[in-house]
Amino acid sequence: MKQIINNILDALVKDGFIVIDEALDANLAKELLNFAREQNNYKQAGISSALDTHIDKTRRSDKILWLNEDNSVQSNFLDFTSRLQKSINQELYIGLSYYESHFAIYNEGDYYEKHLDSFKNSKNRVVTTVYYLNEQWNQSDGGELVIYDKNDNVLSKVLPKQNTLIIFLSDKFHHEVLATNKTRYSIAGWFRVDKF
Ligand code: OGA
Ligand code: MN
Repeated sequence: MKQIINNILDALVKDGFIVIDEALDANLAKELLNFAREQNNYKQAGISSALDTHIDKTRRSDKILWLNEDNSVQSNFLDFTSRLQKSINQELYIGLSYYESHFAIYNEGDYYEKHLDSFKNSKNRVVTTVYYLNEQWNQSDGGELVIYDKNDNVLSKVLPKQNTLIIFLSDKFHHEVLATNKTRYSIAGWFRVDKF
């Protein structure tokens, strides 16, 4: 755990992003997948801007469910993010004050157009995390996360495989989810500098 956190800190300073395979406890990833599969109260995801949040299925078609720390499976994941938050604050002098995260389900054909997680006129979302839960994934299954640099070159194309973790600076990296050919589960989260 300490090693992973150190790797993340180094990468955030040097490159602003990191992709880690087999990142956390393998059992935790399995339990989170089971939990995500059992839920039936996902809601159509919205698009937020400085002005409002609204549904626009042409830009993103996934469904989401916010994490809740009162549940033991989810709280094991949130223990990791809270350790990471403390380390980022101590080592990188960023005053992260809050972490919000949701499960996302992308059914066949779902995608999320290229976007930035930090909205114009708002610097609230500072560091993005994406954690994947899917047992098996091949190139032909689609659903890759594509991360771009500031010149629009592809930096990384990540298969959403179980226990892969991606962390990046929210206002620096455009990214998109390509249309998936099968059901795809992820947990997307954001460290913020304030709650609202
Ligand atoms: C997001 C996002 C990526 C993913 O929700 O903002 O970029 O793979 N998610 O779920
Ligand atoms: Mn995003």
